Amino acid sequence: MIAQRVNLGNDSYEIIIDAMATFGRRIADACQPKGQIAVVADAAAYGFHGEAMAGALRAAGLSHALLALPPGEHNKTIDGLGTVYRFFAEAGLRRDGLVIAFGGGVIGDLAGFAAATWMRGVPYVQVPTTLLAQVDAGVGGKTAVNLPEGKNLVGAFYQPKLVLIDTTALDTLAPRDFRCGMAEVIKYGAIFSRKLFESLAVPPGRDRWPGIVAECCRYKADVVGRDEKESGERKLLNFGHTLGHAIEKLGGYERHTHGEAVSAGMVIAAQIGEKLGLTRAGCAVALRHTLSANGLPCDSPYKPSDLLACAEMDKKSGVGGIAFVLLRDIGTAFTHVLDMPALRELL
Ligand code: GLY
Repeated sequence: MIAQRVNLGNDSYEIIIDAMATFGRRIADACQPKGQIAVVADAAAYGFHGEAMAGALRAAGLSHALLALPPGEHNKTIDGLGTVYRFFAEAGLRRDGLVIAFGGGVIGDLAGFAAATWMRGVPYVQVPTTLLAQVDAGVGGKTAVNLPEGKNLVGAFYQPKLVLIDTTALDTLAPRDFRCGMAEVIKYGAIFSRKLFESLAVPPGRDRWPGIVAECCRYKADVVGRDEKESGERKLLNFGHTLGHAIEKLGGYERHTHGEAVSAGMVIAAQIGEKLGLTRAGCAVALRHTLSANGLPCDSPYKPSDLLACAEMDKKSGVGGIAFVLLRDIGTAFTHVLDMPALRELL
C-alpha cells in the first residue's frame, strides 16, 4: 500500500495505491456514507473490474446503484450530465450519500462535476482505472464537461474525499489508452524530474507501474496542495495542453486521444521555447525521442492557422495573450505569456 496526502485544509484527502479488494473498507472508513451510494462507471472498465469493486463494497456492508456508460468522450457533454443527474434522481442520491467515479478521465470529470452540482454538492470518491486518470485526471479535483465550442468549458474545482488506485487495472487497458497515459507520465518527467524523464526512454514494464503512478501522484498532490485553483504553479501541469486541446478539437475529439494530442503539443511547445531562446537546445529532440519510444506521435497534422484559432478559445488565453508553459530544461518548467501575433510567427 502506498499513501499520498493532498493537503488542502478541510478538503484534504488521501490518494491510496492498493488492491481493489480493500476499497470498500477504505470508503466506509474515510467517507462513512449514510445514504445512497451512486457508482458512475465506464462500462468497459466495469466489465473487467466491476465485480471486484462491487464485492469490495458488499464486503464493507455498502450497497450501491450503478450507471455504466459506454466508453468515450461523447459522454462528457451537457446531455451526458443530464443522464447522470437522472440516474442520481432515480437512485435517491442525497447529500448524505456518495458518488463513486469508476473509470478513466471522462468518467471522473463527468461524475465529479455531477457530484459538485447535485444538490449543491455531494461527496465523491475517484477510482481511476486508466493510467491517464491514475496519474493526472483522477487527482486534484478538476471536474468538467465539454461544449461544442471547446473542451472542459463548463466545470468546477471540487475535491474528492478519497482517490483509490489499483494499478493492476492497467493490465486490461487497451495499448492505445496505456500510451495515452504515458504522455502524461512523460509530461511529469519533462516539467519536474529529469531522472523520471530519462527512465522513460524505454517503455516501463509492469513492475514499475505502482512506483511511477505513486511518483506522479506525489508531484500532483504537492502542486495541488500549493495551488488548488490554478492561479500559479498548477498551470505547469498544462505543459503541451494548449496546443494539445487544439489538436483534440480539430480531430473532433475522436481522431486523437488526449495523450496523443498532448504529446504533439509538448514537442511543439519545446520547439517554440527553443526558438525563443528560453528552452535549452535539444529538449525538443529529447522529448521526441522519449515520446516516440513510447509509441506516441510528435507532430500535428493541422495547419498552424487552425491551431491558433482553437488556442485562442482556450481557457488559458486572456487579454494579454496565452499563458504558455515552456521548459527551461528537461525537469524544469515555467509559464510565459505569448501574444497571438508572436505565437502566429512562431508556429
Ligand atoms: N490536468 C491538469 C491539472 O489537473 O491541473
